[in-house]
Amino acid sequence: MCWRGRNVGFATVDVDDAELLQRWRSDPVAVHQIGYWPRALSALRERLERQRDDNDRDDFLVLLPDGTPVGHISLFDQDLADGTAEVSLLMDERYRGGGHGSAALDALVDLAFGELPLHRLQAVTHTGNAPALAVLAGAGFVQEGVRRSACLHRGRRYDVAVLSLLRPEWEALARPRAWEL
Ligand SMILES: CC(C)(COP(=O)(O)OP(=O)(O)OC[C@H]1O[C@@H](n2cnc3c(N)ncnc32)[C@H](O)[C@@H]1OP(=O)(O)O)[C@@H](O)C(=O)NCCC(=O)NCCS
Repeated sequence: MCWRGRNVGFATVDVDDAELLQRWRSDPVAVHQIGYWPRALSALRERLERQRDDNDRDDFLVLLPDGTPVGHISLFDQDLADGTAEVSLLMDERYRGGGHGSAALDALVDLAFGELPLHRLQAVTHTGNAPALAVLAGAGFVQEGVRRSACLHRGRRYDVAVLSLLRPEWEALARPRAWEL
């Protein structure tokens, strides 16, 4: 594990994790909630190979303390000049609702502000994605607006919420940081 949080750890994603990520991304809830369109495993593998040298993103497997992989979390579109980046999170459906998503997001936020000179983290999700909105609010993200009618989900249109967490807001959070756990 290269980074640890509250009962979770991170390991960097490698090309050989493609099958695992593909399984999580093919789960119908994930497909509907975040609009992933299933692609061939070989295409995902090629994308991971292409992204291996990208300096503007970090992709991690979320691991339980015993090493079981339970999710994929990313800090992408990193712009160190403007101090901005975006987060995304996908948990294995068998491990949802156990607090692991929240723990992983807190740990990623601590990595972003504690180890990188970032000022603003952004997340987007459609306004019908209650679990994602709850997890983001729990980590301190604030909804700053919506892109109206910006996605189609299960036959109806939804607004897409844009949320952000700024460095001073992270500094004001009362919880222990990942490195204090
Ligand atoms: C969103 C997701 C990552 C949450 O992970 P998780 O491990 O299930 O979340 P947690 O167990 O840590 O729950 C965190 C909070 O969400 C709430 N929550 C969980 N499922 C919920 C649901 N179905 N409806 C409403 N709130 C829900 C929990 O009550 C908890 O709130 P609390 O801290 O106030 O008690 C997970 O559901 C997932 O992978 N969804 C599909 C992909 C996705 O939508 N990703 C988000 C894109 S940004």
